[in-house]
Amino acid sequence: MPRASDIEQQVREYWDLDAATYDRSPGHDPQTRVELAVWAATLRRLLPPPPARVLDAGAGTGFVSLLLAREGYRVTALDLAPSMLAQLSAKAGRRGLSIEVVEGSAAEPPRDAYDAVVERHLVWTLPDPRAALEAWRRVAPAGTLVLLESIWGAHAGPSEQLRARARVLLRRLRNGPSEHHAEYGADLRSELPFGSGTSPELLVELVESTGWGPARVERLRDVEWATREALVSVVDRLLGVTPRFAVVAG
Ligand SMILES: C[S@@+](CC[C@H](N)C(=O)[O-])C[C@H]1O[C@@H](n2cnc3c(N)ncnc32)[C@H](O)[C@@H]1O
Repeated sequence: MPRASDIEQQVREYWDLDAATYDRSPGHDPQTRVELAVWAATLRRLLPPPPARVLDAGAGTGFVSLLLAREGYRVTALDLAPSMLAQLSAKAGRRGLSIEVVEGSAAEPPRDAYDAVVERHLVWTLPDPRAALEAWRRVAPAGTLVLLESIWGAHAGPSEQLRARARVLLRRLRNGPSEHHAEYGADLRSELPFGSGTSPELLVELVESTGWGPARVERLRDVEWATREALVSVVDRLLGVTPRFAVVAG
């Protein structure tokens, strides 16, 4: 069985390559004014007020970190992949925002004190999600946890699985850019406890068993609405967008 650090090495290599195209997907880096405003409102609703100190775990190219910094939060962006962080730093520089950037494993956050820990779309790719959430609790013992996730893969219902397949097919027919430069291989995926998908049930169980206390779940309907409104074609709108939810605790 490979060690967590070997798996993280493979994951780092993947995201270092993906950094060049990651932001081309509107799902990764939404840009309309309404989408940005809805995401900002969502983060403000779920997190303690600024200037709280927030750790963004698996910050990537920085969509969440940058919004938080713009809202007046003190942000630490933690990620394994230097190329993803380079994109984040470049954007922060262009926008005149100050963000502390730390290259490293989500399971080994800086030994600092945070008021909140947030992540978006990280948990599925952790070799040991339990260890990461326990480590986050240690650096935010009285803080808030916000997991920003979507329902996908094996855990989506049959109709959402069908819609997701149709969205991929439509993109291929149009020769549209793929969301990633490649897929994770089956071997790597099999080493990741949530590698075949996440669901609210799985994440509530994870959060409540790692010292964060009772969890709340919110469907992020405002975000889904803004994402759908940004779609241009009627067919895209009919196929809808990936269902999103947040798990909040602490
Ligand atoms: C799907 S991207 C999400 C990026 C960003 N949170 C967003 O919402 O756009 C996953 C990110 O998690 C990072 N990552 C994956 N495994 C990690 C780990 N074990 N520790 C820290 N970062 C990790 C990757 O490098 C990548 O930037």
